[in-house]
Amino acid sequence: MKPRVLQYGRLMPVLEQQLAQAFNLHRLADEAQPKAFLVARGREFVGLATGGFADAALIDALPSLEVISSFGVGVDKIDLVAAGRRGILVGNTPDVLNDCVADLALGLVIDVARGMSASQHYLRRGDWPKGNYPLQRRVSGKRMGIVGLGRIGKAIAQRAAAFNMELRYHNRRPAAETKIAYEASLLELARWADFLVVIVPGGEATRRLINAAVLDALGPEGFLVNVARGSVVDEPALVRALQEKRIAGAGLDVFENEPNVPAELMQLDNVVLLPHVASATHETRAAMAQRVFDNLSEYFAHGRLVSAIAA
Ligand code: NAP
Ligand code: 8YV
Repeated sequence: MKPRVLQYGRLMPVLEQQLAQAFNLHRLADEAQPKAFLVARGREFVGLATGGFADAALIDALPSLEVISSFGVGVDKIDLVAAGRRGILVGNTPDVLNDCVADLALGLVIDVARGMSASQHYLRRGDWPKGNYPLQRRVSGKRMGIVGLGRIGKAIAQRAAAFNMELRYHNRRPAAETKIAYEASLLELARWADFLVVIVPGGEATRRLINAAVLDALGPEGFLVNVARGSVVDEPALVRALQEKRIAGAGLDVFENEPNVPAELMQLDNVVLLPHVASATHETRAAMAQRVFDNLSEYFAHGRLVSAIAA
């Protein structure tokens, strides 16, 4: 008997096929009345494959659930407390995306400082014959403050070092095995940095960690880059700081209310805006899909996960 697995949200077609071959898979999205379906048949499912979401209501609707396998490393939209109460294991996709997310973070740093996207718009608008594009800011040799020196933060640091950047970081506590200088105060880190790069997990513990005071500490010569979660930045405060030029610019891959981006941000020249694409390469998404599958198959074969969130 193949284990009964529920799919929540859309997954890559190749992953759906793999899941459907190995397990008795049911896509909740195929149900016209998903709530009624869960009431009638939620008890059948022992596994959940999700694009990143599993709140307490969904977990409660699956009383036989043993394992959740989520596409992505961030689990801020999974109710880990509800899962933990029932002893349900939760798997994610760490490490396989470090390189691509770090590459994109450096891309945002360079783009926003050098005005790559903005100057391309200038050229495409036909403005070049009217005059040269204004001078921008140098990246090499500048100071980068990393908020969240974890798996991805370390990959960002490695790349920044190749640009001869000076590095410091802020975590809740000093990280093991790094020579990068620790800054216990986020405000001090922002004050020191030319570039503040944010790569902490989302969720309540980090909600609006980057607030107006941090932005003011970063100051009119400083750039913010956020590849973490939109919830980590106070977005209205960021919009005001950008409009009033209290910071120099921002490179953003994530937003508070995705896929909606504040209209005010769209109108600003000193921002680079990307639609949450940091891990979005064929290679990395294939590796993430494989990990979603491997977490489930490892659980059903041996009762453990390849990568599990600590309960
Ligand atoms: P990780 O290895 O767990 O690193 C997270 C780091 O953040 C740790 O060093 C942790 O250190 C620090 N941290 C946690 N809470 C903090 C707080 N309240 N204040 C200061 N520092 C804090 O995670 P990762 O694999 O690098 O991933 C980080 C996050 O990036 C994910 O959770 C996800 O939300 C986001 N992400 C975004 C994309 C994208 O597409 N844009 C892609 C992948 C990941 P301490 O515990 O010592 O504080
Ligand atoms: C993905 C991410 O875009 O891993 C994460 O936490 O934010 C990204 O890699 C997302 O999980 C896929 O929907």
